[in-house]
Amino acid sequence: MSTAKKDYKRVTVKSLIEMKSNGEKISMLTAYDYTMAKIVDGAGVDVILVGDSASNVMAGHETTLPITLDQMIYHASSVVRAIDRALIVVDLPFGSYQSDPKEALRSAIRIMKESGGHSVKLEGGKEVKESIKRILNAGIPVMGHLGLTPQSIYKFGTYTVRAKEEREAEKLKEDALMLQKAGCFAIVLEKVPAKLAKEVAESLTIPIIGIGAGNGVDGQVLVTHDMLGMTHEFNPRFLRRYLDLYSEMTSTFKQYVADVKSIDFPNDNEQY
Ligand code: KIV
Repeated sequence: MSTAKKDYKRVTVKSLIEMKSNGEKISMLTAYDYTMAKIVDGAGVDVILVGDSASNVMAGHETTLPITLDQMIYHASSVVRAIDRALIVVDLPFGSYQSDPKEALRSAIRIMKESGGHSVKLEGGKEVKESIKRILNAGIPVMGHLGLTPQSIYKFGTYTVRAKEEREAEKLKEDALMLQKAGCFAIVLEKVPAKLAKEVAESLTIPIIGIGAGNGVDGQVLVTHDMLGMTHEFNPRFLRRYLDLYSEMTSTFKQYVADVKSIDFPNDNEQY
């Protein structure tokens, strides 16, 4: 059953703001390759995030820190070739925007020019304000990311819920307002208390897309491989697994091995 209120042939940053003002929730999922992006887009997901979670999901790194700008551009350009409708957001990877605003702009321009993505996302609040402004001044739409920001994992020490304490919650609210004032078109809020996320969503005009931030926000994002159950070591409370592809794929591969060994595959109809 679809609950979409308006048929968007092509989702833009403006469509997202319109969805928020019409009370239509925004759906967002990750994709890092052509085949997955084609399915996700065809299913009507509004926003496709080429997340730096590719570092974990695609490359098997423990954190998002190692992925490079070149690698993000490779993933993003594969996704771009698959998309007819969704808005594509590409993560600026760790190290490509933190040192100074000029470098941030250079990185964002490379993403837009070399991948064909529609916008960029970067993590942080007032520390990255000047970089955000510079990127926006070049006409590149920016999505913010607050709460649990995985590129700062070694500062936090753990992946636990953020902004439970009053001081951190206040800073998050100030940062969210600053991102809106600077011109960001949306903000991802990761792993923060649902009450705080709802308050932020209600106080801003730009959409707040949550991951582990409850249902009082304007949209939801999940890592596609997690919600499909392809990954199985990672079990946060917020993750709804729609499939158990890990088990299904494992038994399929086992069946294939058995079929090859027993010369059941290929059969007479499967050869020339
Ligand atoms: O990289 C990513 O997948 C993300 C989401 C978790 C929001 O940033």
